Parts: sequence; structure tokens; C-alpha cells
Amino acid sequence: DALTYHRRHAMNSNAMNGAAALRRACPQLRLVTDAAVLESHGRDWTRFRQPSPAAVAFPDSVREVQELVAAAAAHRIPLVPSGGRTGLSGGAVAAFGEVVVSFDRMRRIVAFNPLDRTVTVEAGVVTAAVQALAREKGLYYPVSFAAEGSSQVGGNVATNAGGIRVLRYGLTREWVAGLKVVTGRGELLVCNRGLVKNASGYDLRHLLIGSEGTLGLIVEATLRLTDPPLPSKVMLLGIASLDALMEVFAAVRGDLALTAFEFLTDRALHHVRQGQGLPAPLATPCPLYVLAEFDCAAQSEEDRALACFERCAEQGWLLDGVISQNDRQVAELWRYREGISESISHFPPYKNDLSVTVSRVPEFLRRMDALLQEICPEFEVVWYGHIGDGNLHMNILKPPSLELQAFEARSHEISSRTYALTRELGGSISAEHGIGLLKRPWLDQVRSAAEIELMRGIKRVFDPAGIFNPGKLLPEM
Ligand code: MLT
Ligand code: ZN
Repeated sequence: DALTYHRRHAMNSNAMNGAAALRRACPQLRLVTDAAVLESHGRDWTRFRQPSPAAVAFPDSVREVQELVAAAAAHRIPLVPSGGRTGLSGGAVAAFGEVVVSFDRMRRIVAFNPLDRTVTVEAGVVTAAVQALAREKGLYYPVSFAAEGSSQVGGNVATNAGGIRVLRYGLTREWVAGLKVVTGRGELLVCNRGLVKNASGYDLRHLLIGSEGTLGLIVEATLRLTDPPLPSKVMLLGIASLDALMEVFAAVRGDLALTAFEFLTDRALHHVRQGQGLPAPLATPCPLYVLAEFDCAAQSEEDRALACFERCAEQGWLLDGVISQNDRQVAELWRYREGISESISHFPPYKNDLSVTVSRVPEFLRRMDALLQEICPEFEVVWYGHIGDGNLHMNILKPPSLELQAFEARSHEISSRTYALTRELGGSISAEHGIGLLKRPWLDQVRSAAEIELMRGIKRVFDPAGIFNPGKLLPEM
């Protein structure tokens, strides 16, 4: 509408002058305006908005971030924080002339403390590098997901990243022992300092985790590490029906020490096999598949898994299955789950990242399927996800014949129905990908007016000039 257009336009010309102002205020700052960099760093993995930043800043130190933010606040320059750009809600998209703040040059490991079992890293350190460092030290960083080879710690914290082992280890939030954050005034906030116990008032760390770049720029994180996991095995199971899926979950969770319980549909299997060139994992085609990973340090644990498998098969819940025999097979079986997202990315999909309590998963899936049949039978929908956490990824694929914009408009119509159902079942419209740019119009489906008003108030305190990731997370006033 006209008002929005006017605001954006005003922001744009501000940012253009602002890029020049930033250059003057921070002459040492690396500020890039090459078309290729604007394109690569102005977007995440979403494809619904064209990147159009005014510039991309590459600060090299906390001090440079503080100077940059102070200058941006003085000149009202909107800033979009950017990590590994693997986000799926458009949280790191700069489509309106903002200045992107990339942490690509802040990749230092600041400290490792074996007694505290923590590692302190700059925001641009890649998730997989934290995992590797932990391994090197005989420890373990358990947050894990398909994008871990490029996603960065700052982005993980800003989105409270989840992934495949939340069932055992929880979300990123559980592993953040301390944060350094630059607030909208350019101040450096030091949160919690690695402490295990700290009962000294509001824990601002937890406000910043999951704040999607709207409250401050995370420049450093102290992450907790833990004992290395026990040896594990993976079963890929062919499931007979939706009801059987939850029966199998209950049985497997009762008998085994699960680290992951993931599901995919036959459509998801079809796409991942095509995309990754994988053979059929089982001889029997099944409507649903489960990938279950569990501790298996001794033969007795494998025997227990096989007995559980037999019992589920006798009940008619399982149609087929396979169990890994070595670490290579563990990795191979994981590809059937972890490769799905990439295999459908070219359509592109309209991603729905929904959650309900685990006990409501069958009702949710059944009712959502019926709703989709009613309102959009023309679209292919691919389901997979972290079913052990009640987190279901519902991907609506764009048919090649439909223009991207028309597909998005149609998907929005669908969202108003699917999100209403999610709300009715007490769920969330974002389990782990965040609200970002794309789900922003629907935040009020799952958060009350009072909550949103408090969020706005918090935003004003942290970011009085309104420069951090404008147009993300909080609905337009
Ligand atoms: C996943 O679980 O694979 C990730 O959340 C990415 C996706 O949903 O596509
Ligand atoms: Zn996921």
C-alpha cells in the first residue's frame, strides 16, 4: 500500500545516503557494493524476495561492529545481520536498501576452557567448526542439522536453531552459556559470562536467543560442550500408517535410548532419491518412513532394537526396515532424511515449519491433509520432520507452470487456513525456522496482542532507532 511504499522509499534513500555516511564514520570498515556481493549476501535460502541491499559491511572486530551500529543509529540506517545465510524464513534477506552486516570476517575461536567445558567463538564461526573443535578436545557440541557446514553460530543463536537431535539435547538455547551483543545504541552487552548458575535478575541472554536480529547484533557466544555420545546405530523403518507411526514412536522410545526420531513421507523419499541419486532404502514401498537413531554401545542394545522391530512388525505397524552395520551406513541412511531439503529447493517450496505437542501429531497430520485436499489439491505437498519433537515440515512445491509471485500469493491464502488450524490445535507456525520476513503477517495467529505489544516494547528498549532488521518478525503497525 501507499504508506508502506512511502516508508520503504524513505528507508531506501536514507540507506543510500547512509552507506556514504557509514563510510565517513567508519573509514576502516570494509563496505562492499559489488553487485555479486550484494546479490550473494542480500539473501538467505528463501527465494521469494529479490536481494537489494545498499551495501554489505564486513566488520573484523567487536569494536568495528560497535562503531558501525553507532553510526547506523545516528543516521537511521537499517541493518540486516547476516550469518551463513541458510535461513528459511527470509530473516537475513535485505530487499529494501538495507546495509547487510556480515560476520564472515569474525571467525576467531576466542577461548576453550576444558574445566568449564565451554568454547567461546566469534559470531561468524561455522557450526561444523564448533562440532569439530569439540571432537578434537574429546567433547561434543550436539546441535546438528543439514546446513551446519555453512550456518554460523551468530545465526544459530539468533534463530535458536534446532535440528535433528533436539529430542535428546534440546535447542541451541540449552547450549548458550554466554553472549556478547551490540545493542542499538552501539553498547556492548555481556550476558551471563559462561556461568552455570546466575540468579541475578532478568536473563537477557534468553531474550536475544531467537530474537532474529531484531534486538542486537550477536558478536560472540560461549557455548557449552558435553560428553561425547555413545556409539549409535540408525534404523530406517517403513511404517504402515499414520496411527502406526505414533505406536512405533512409543514402542521405540520405551525400549531404546533415542537420539533422533525423524519421519518422511513416500513423496519426500521420492524427491530425495531423485535429488541425491539414492537407491530405494527398503524392498517394500511404504507410505511413511522413520529414521531412528539410538545409543548402541553393546550387542544387547542391538538385540533389544531388533526385538522391538519384531514386535512392531507383528502388530502390523512396520512393513520393512534396515539397521546400520557400521558408521558408513549410519551416514548413508541419514542422507535419506538430511538430503530432502536440498533436493526440493529448486521448485522452490513454500516452507511451513509447524509444531504441535507430540500427542497431537496424528490429529494434526490427518486434519491438515484433509484441509490441503480441500483447498489446494493441485499442489504437491512434501512432509518430513522431527516428529519426535512434534515439529513437522510441510513443503508446498511450486508447479513449474506457475509464476513465483502467483504461487506466493496462493500460498498465502493457504497459510491463512493452515495457520488457523495450527492455532486451533494449540501449535506454532514456526517450530525452528523463525518468523523472519515470510511469516510475519501471521505472528498474531500464535502470539496474543498483549505479547506482541510487550515484544514491541522490548524492541524499543534494545533498538530505539529501529535499525535492526526492520520489517522482520514483528507485524507492521
Ligand atoms: C530440516 O529439518 O531438514 C530443516 O529444517 C530444513 C527444512 O525444513 O527444509
Ligand atoms: Zn528441521
